[in-house]
Amino acid sequence: MALKITVIGTGYLGATHAAAMAELGFEVLGLDIVPEKIELLSTGRVPMYEPGLEDLLRRHVAGIEGSTGRLRFTTSWEEVGAFGDVHFVCVNTPQKHGEYACDMSYVDSAFASLAPHLAGQALVVGKSTVPVGSAERLARLLAEQAPGDVELAWNPEFLREGFAVEDTLHPDRIVVGVGSAHAEKVLREVYATPVGEGSPFVVTDFPTAELVKTAANSFLATKISFINAMAEVCEAAGGDVVKLAEAIGHDERIGRRFLRAGVGFGGGCLPKDIRAFMARAGELGADQALTFLREVDSINMRRRGHMVELAREAVGGGSFLGKRVAVLGATFKPDSDDVRDSPALNVAGQIQLQGGQVTVYDPKGMENARRLFPTLAYADSALEAVRGADVVLHLTEWREFRELDPEVLGEVASERIVLDGRNALDPQVWRSAGWTYRAMGRPVA
Ligand code: UDX
Repeated sequence: MALKITVIGTGYLGATHAAAMAELGFEVLGLDIVPEKIELLSTGRVPMYEPGLEDLLRRHVAGIEGSTGRLRFTTSWEEVGAFGDVHFVCVNTPQKHGEYACDMSYVDSAFASLAPHLAGQALVVGKSTVPVGSAERLARLLAEQAPGDVELAWNPEFLREGFAVEDTLHPDRIVVGVGSAHAEKVLREVYATPVGEGSPFVVTDFPTAELVKTAANSFLATKISFINAMAEVCEAAGGDVVKLAEAIGHDERIGRRFLRAGVGFGGGCLPKDIRAFMARAGELGADQALTFLREVDSINMRRRGHMVELAREAVGGGSFLGKRVAVLGATFKPDSDDVRDSPALNVAGQIQLQGGQVTVYDPKGMENARRLFPTLAYADSALEAVRGADVVLHLTEWREFRELDPEVLGEVASERIVLDGRNALDPQVWRSAGWTYRAMGRPVA
C-alpha cells in the first residue's frame, strides 16, 4: 500500500510540498490552523504568488474538475493523525521579536497538537529551519506524548521562492537526518522519484541535518556580502564589480551564481537564519566560530543605507524635502510577492522618513507592501511611479523593469537619473536615452 502523507503548515513551504507529494502520486492531507487558508487551498488557490503552484494544486485538489483528487486540506489534528503514515511539519520559524534567536513556538505547538493523535505507526518529518538540537528535543516530546509507535526524522528544505515548485520536484539534493534504518527506508520510498531522476540522497544524523540548512544559507549570505564588500572597494577605487564578479566566477571553485552586487539580501530566510545561527552557536559556546556572520549581516544592512545616500546625492546632496523618488520594486526578489525584510521597502521607508515623496511600484508585491508600509505612495505602473520623479531607484530586478523603455520614462520623469540597486538594467540602453545611470559598485560614467 502506498504511503499516506500529511503536511502540517501550508505557507510557501507546506503548500508546495503538499502539492508536490500529490504530483509524486501520494494521497496527501494538508493541515493549517487558519481556516481561511484551508478554504482557499481547497478551491485550488494559494494565498501568495508563486509561479506554477496554483496549476500544480489544481491538478490534484479533490473536488476540482479533472483533478486526481489526491490532495485534500483540513484544520483537524485528529483527521491528520488518523490519516497519515508520514507527517511533514512545515511551519514557520520566524526571528523572535527584538532578538536574534528563532521563534520555535509554531513548531512546538504543531508537535504538541499532533503527538496525542498518533496512535499507530508513524514517521514525523521536520522540514522547518530550526536551531541545531531541536530535533533531539522534539523526538523526546514524541516519545513522551504520542501513544503509538512514532519516530522522528529531519529533512531540511532548500526551496527558493519563485522556484518553489521546480525546487521541490527536482531538488539539488535531499538531506535526511534519521535515527534508524526504518526511517531512512520510509524516506527513500517518499523520494523515490526525484532520487531516481538523479537527486542525491544524503543520509545523516539529526544535528548534521539541521546544520546543513543553516550552513547552506550562511554560505549563500556570505557570498552575497562578499561581493557587496567588493562593490564598496570598487566604488572607492574606481573598479567595476560586475566585471569583477564575472571574472572571478569563471573559476569553478568560486562559481558565478550569487555574486550579484546591489542592495543585498532580504526575505524570510537568509537574514533571520544567519541571526538565529549566531544565537544558537552562542548558546552552544561556539559563538566565536560565527562572528564573521555578524560582518555578513552588517555589510548587508550597510547596502540599504548606501542606496539612500546615492539617492540623496542624486537629488542634490542635501535634504530629500520636496524631492520625488520613484522606487521600482517592493518585494525582496523578483517572481515573488514576499516583502518580508525587503531591501527595496527598507530604502523607500528610510527616504520617506527623511522627507522624500516616495512612490513605489511592484508587479506582484503591492498588496503586501501596502499592508506593511501603508504610508508610502503606490502607483499602478512603473510609468506612473516615475512621473515627476527627481530620481528613479531600481531595487528589485523584475523582468518588467529590464524591459522598460527609458525613452518613454524619460518623457514623464522630472530628472533623468536612475540608480540601479540590482545591477540588472542595461547601462548602455539607459545612457543612450539620455539618463544618468549609476549602479552600486560600478564606475560613474
Ligand atoms: C533562500 C535560499 O536560496 C533557499 O535555498 C532557502 O531554502 C531559503 O532561503 P530565498 O529566500 O527564496 O531562498 O531567496 P534567494 O533566491 O536565496 O535570494 C535571497 C536574497 O538574496 C534576495 O533578496 C536576493 O535579491 C538576494 N541576492 C541573491 C543578491 O542580492 N545577490 C545575489 O547574487 C543573489
